[in-house]
Amino acid sequence: KRTVRGCSSSNSNKHVLMIPYPSQGHLNPMLQFSKRLSTKGVKVTMVTTIFISKTMHLKSSSLPSTLQFDFISDGYDQGGFAQANNISTYLSHMETIGSNNLKELIKKYNFSNDPIDCVIYDPLIYWVLDVAKEFGLLGAAFFTQMSGVNYIYYYVHHGLLKLPISSMTISIQGLPLLDIKDTPSFVNDPGFYPAYYELVMNQFSNIHKADVILVNSFYKLEDKVVDSMSKLCPILTIGPTVPSFYLDKEIPNDKDNDLNLFQLDSSAINWLNTKPEGSVIYVSFGSMVCFSIEQMKEIALGLIGSGLNFLWVVPNMEGKNISKELVEEISLSGKGLVVNWIPQLEVLSNKAIGCFVTHCGWNSTLEALCLGVPMVAIPQWTDQPMNAKFVEDVWKVGIRVLVYENGIVTREEIESCIREVMESEHGREMRINAKKWRELAIEAVSLGGSSDNNINEFVNSLNRS
Ligand code: UDX
Repeated sequence: KRTVRGCSSSNSNKHVLMIPYPSQGHLNPMLQFSKRLSTKGVKVTMVTTIFISKTMHLKSSSLPSTLQFDFISDGYDQGGFAQANNISTYLSHMETIGSNNLKELIKKYNFSNDPIDCVIYDPLIYWVLDVAKEFGLLGAAFFTQMSGVNYIYYYVHHGLLKLPISSMTISIQGLPLLDIKDTPSFVNDPGFYPAYYELVMNQFSNIHKADVILVNSFYKLEDKVVDSMSKLCPILTIGPTVPSFYLDKEIPNDKDNDLNLFQLDSSAINWLNTKPEGSVIYVSFGSMVCFSIEQMKEIALGLIGSGLNFLWVVPNMEGKNISKELVEEISLSGKGLVVNWIPQLEVLSNKAIGCFVTHCGWNSTLEALCLGVPMVAIPQWTDQPMNAKFVEDVWKVGIRVLVYENGIVTREEIESCIREVMESEHGREMRINAKKWRELAIEAVSLGGSSDNNINEFVNSLNRS
């Protein structure tokens, strides 16, 4: 019997609903994973909100024919999250309205020739699993953050780590010794963002009902964490969910994140192509971070002070505290380009890039690791401090800024960290380490690699259902 890359050919009959949390950093990995599943013969319907359908720029020409989109209302079709007064209102409405609409959607498919076999969901919308189980479907949780972060949340949720933390460090088997500043923000300060704390804790409220737990990471990247966590809660690492063009070339033209919630400015690539190899600092803080006017100024002056070329992504600039004067100063320096949104993978893989100044969102961190780019970490909140800890001390592919004045990272600190990565012996070692992680990422997703095997195991489990 013919097999599709290690999977039984009967998978071609299987139909999976893929349900991400509706934000850029959660849509990207699930869309990339959907493409991976397509290569294994599984049909995927990615379900997101009506609001996202109105705002997204989708490059559908590069998507496989076995991957389609469908949309349901979360009750906020006009403005999404921004339409709700606050995160608690948004989440509770989304649960009530979203779960009813999801039930209707499943019924629609089940009455068609294309019934659903499994629902893969982001545990931030944990209630999706309860809907799947109501229909007797397989439910697979897909964690879009690193295993270490999930592990520490699991510990807190199960009362194995009591909050607030009373010591200066935390020791958990499988994790490096963590300073309080290295833990996810909802752990080191649960009272500061109570609704977000609840959001991340709820991920584990029904996890025991999940048939499979998938994590966007790869075994060698987090071997100790995966081994330790799996003793309590078995997980399958299936990442990195980076387009295959940059890794195993499974689909040669699979080059993009495909779905952007911001308007792309591709002119940056032409600009990069005029710059010498390894000479440009790429600066991006993902889709959500919003710095103060003062912090934006310090970043700009740190970059200008380095004397190096830099490409800085500031999405929806008007709302992002960057003054016209600052943009002008950058332009006058003759060194910097500020853009709205770029094809990040294409940029990170461009030879001109020498370093990535990042907030250490998990996708950006993984993408930099996969493309062998060393980092300067300026983590802000949620999982980012812990990602930065691993970047600096475990994977040794970057450094984290340390010097703050009145809660602001100074221009001198930014400049000095950039110089360390770009010009020092330490930076050279980071670059070598980054290349090593790139090789290991390629190995994980290539035929017979740990992630490829885990994906096959998951796909084959669909058959046994
Ligand atoms: C959020 C959280 O902040 C992050 O900590 C969590 O791990 C995931 O959800 P976000 O802040 O947007 O995500 O950061 P990140 O995880 O890095 O995701 C950003 C994505 O947007 C990346 O896949 C990146 O490639 C993409 N991107 C970013 C672009 O395609 N173009 C850009 O110009 C900037």
